[in-house]
Amino acid sequence: MMSKDLISIHDLSASAVSALLDLAAEVKADPRRFATALSGKSLAMLFEKSSTRTRVSFEVGMFQLGGQALFLSARDIQLGRGEPISDTAAVLSRYVDGVMARTFAHQTVLDLAAHGSIPVINGLTDDLHPCQALTDYFSLGEVFGGLDRLAGRKIAYVGDGNNMAHSLLHGAPKVGMNVAVATPKGYEVQDAYLDNARRDAEAAGTSVETTHDPRAAVAGASCVYTDVWASMGQEEEAEERLKAFEGFTVDAELMAAAAPEAVFLHCLPAHRGEEVAAAVADGPQSRIFDQAENRLHVQKAIMVELMGDRRRSDS
Ligand code: CP
Ligand code: NVA
Repeated sequence: MMSKDLISIHDLSASAVSALLDLAAEVKADPRRFATALSGKSLAMLFEKSSTRTRVSFEVGMFQLGGQALFLSARDIQLGRGEPISDTAAVLSRYVDGVMARTFAHQTVLDLAAHGSIPVINGLTDDLHPCQALTDYFSLGEVFGGLDRLAGRKIAYVGDGNNMAHSLLHGAPKVGMNVAVATPKGYEVQDAYLDNARRDAEAAGTSVETTHDPRAAVAGASCVYTDVWASMGQEEEAEERLKAFEGFTVDAELMAAAAPEAVFLHCLPAHRGEEVAAAVADGPQSRIFDQAENRLHVQKAIMVELMGDRRRSDS
């Protein structure tokens, strides 16, 4: 059983992750069985940043579950004119059954959860992107013949020590995977998130490695993962980051240094020719569009788990 909110994968037990991803597989295999799972329920989707996949997959997912989703741009609601997040959370709790939020500051999502009585789902903050990383491990489970076949495998993240890196670090020990993160100097992951992953990995008997050498990270890896070098909110740093990240492009040569069965994943949007070569993003090892599709199935499972009546009758 998950807690009220989904803010960070670190908050979930390994068994909660595995139950959630099993539910996602059921949702994917037989979507009609869940067609009324959230009938009469509403999800508010609060966005401070742009989105294609998150917005569309949550909105379509909610529709497919029999519910309704409301797109709320922070610019257009009173939050953008200074209404406190605590009041926004209290008011939304009187109208809707759940909130998915994409924000700049991670604290904003924490505040929404603290001041609202309804489930809050983190749809990406500057620090974390848990829905994406859960989807990524679900996708790897599909590639390698089941979640239980991930144990002992390695995922290598090459690039910026950003929200994706943090959530992938959190997820790996939950599914029994070893994880290596290669970043340029000065762009490392944050210590607090790394420490959380290290503690979970120690308990799970898996490993966490950080390096400045992409080749060392990908050695033996079953998955090579990257993300943009300048995330949303870092647009002004884009030029300097292009220089700092030289040598960190995931190209055919780097993929060849991974395990022979390695697949390539990217949360998207991608910048071909920067963090990933087009030949890799669009090549035979790439699973980026299956991965994008799986956002829909995994998030439907998250919403059923957090917002469904099954939960109320269990508690
Ligand atoms: N991967 C992801 O979250 O994509 P969007 O920014 O398009 O939602
Ligand atoms: N790190 C990227 C992920 C986008 C899905 C960003 O935050 O912009």
